[in-house]
Amino acid sequence: MSFKQPLKAGAVIATLDVGSSKIACFIAQMTDDEGGFEIVGVGHQASQGVKSGIIIDINLAESAIAHSVHAAEKMASRVIKGYPLRDVVLAVPATSSESHFVDAHVQMMRQNVTENDVRRALAKAQVKAQKEDREIVHTIPVDYVLDGHRGIQNPYGMSGQLMDIDIHMLDADFAHLKHISQCTEQNHLDIVSLCSSPYAAGLSTLVDDEIELGSIVIDMGAGVTSYAVFQSGRLLFAGGVPVGGQHITSDIAHGLTTSLADAERLKTLYGSALATISDEHEYIDVPMVGEQNARGEQHVTRALLINIIQARLEEIFEMVRQGLEDSGVEASICRRVVLTGGASLMPSIPELAQKILGKQVRCAQTLKVKGLPDATSGPAFAVSMGLISYYTQRPYEMPMEIASYGESKSFAERFKGWFKENW
Ligand SMILES: Nc1ncnc2c1ncn2[C@@H]1O[C@H](COP(=O)(O)OP(=O)(O)OP(=O)(O)O)[C@@H](O)[C@H]1O
Ligand SMILES: [Mg+2]
Repeated sequence: MSFKQPLKAGAVIATLDVGSSKIACFIAQMTDDEGGFEIVGVGHQASQGVKSGIIIDINLAESAIAHSVHAAEKMASRVIKGYPLRDVVLAVPATSSESHFVDAHVQMMRQNVTENDVRRALAKAQVKAQKEDREIVHTIPVDYVLDGHRGIQNPYGMSGQLMDIDIHMLDADFAHLKHISQCTEQNHLDIVSLCSSPYAAGLSTLVDDEIELGSIVIDMGAGVTSYAVFQSGRLLFAGGVPVGGQHITSDIAHGLTTSLADAERLKTLYGSALATISDEHEYIDVPMVGEQNARGEQHVTRALLINIIQARLEEIFEMVRQGLEDSGVEASICRRVVLTGGASLMPSIPELAQKILGKQVRCAQTLKVKGLPDATSGPAFAVSMGLISYYTQRPYEMPMEIASYGESKSFAERFKGWFKENW
């Protein structure tokens, strides 16, 4: 669809990813009118008041958000003078969102299908799908049926009288969004768009062929492991489980009777998803919780540490496999899996994922975008980067854009209204 590119050269957009372990804010400036951009500000901060992607302490979350936003603004101020950060694209965690499948039909106005017909159908479907306690995040047409003929990918210009559209609609928990908007309001941010986290992670890390031919992105965070299924250039499904890297750390702390801080250090220094024979003979020093001197240290084989990690990772990938099976989408046609998120940095993780999911697995490459500091180019920042791609490239999937054009103006007003209600 030919929706207008929302940003012109020189315009600025910010993103906010409120994760379970870190809160990241990116500021991008458009370099042309076609969606090209560079990063001019980055701020990230240890997360507080967030559990499995959900806000559990609004005051703590608000101040952590403020720190990362201010850091990003400070960096951006070297390039953009006097810029008050305002428009922000927000990541929606998979733990608060759900994929639904709806269909909509319209009678064509003219002989050939026009953009107006498609938007009318989508806007109608949005009004029908709207619920009090949910907010629609994405409205994505996945299949068009024209006078009974299925499988049409691009109906524009085709002749027909009646069109059915199969739509993937992803919605999110209204209460969660309201809590986040309470935090952003204090930081003078205006949420202009929402985007599912694993969807954003896929947009910044999958290559065009992977999005076209069918791939699954698994974003392995601290408190959430979320997944998104892509095919024919579209998002078919997104889901997630409230388990992630923090659970691995806590298993290590319990299993080896050590503190969470030491467990995290041992995990990143000596951890792996799969043990090798040599790990049976390598010993590591593990400080015992509460002990302060060397007498309180135990020596365990690296294999023991890895077994703990492997057991939890196997459970996570089994849950993802089950979620994909239950989703009803043909995830089996996707041969490719791409891992993102901080927890995907674990050595040997693609091999383990491959064994359980039965697909070709690769880890996401380092993000390469002009202006992005090396420290924030790793897989943990794939969501932040993808939010910019989403906002600049896919306005036709945004409920507010669809509604503002069609018959359902009231929906747009509701959407805008609640974001602004706390101002
Ligand atoms: N080198 C590493 N090896 C293994 N795990 C790592 C490594 N580096 C970071 N992690 C883990 O990655 C997790 C953080 O990832 P990320 O920043 O993607 O999470 P988040 O976005 O804050 O959380 P979520 O998306 O779950 O809400 C932590 O659990 C951390 O222990
Ligand atoms: Mg995350």
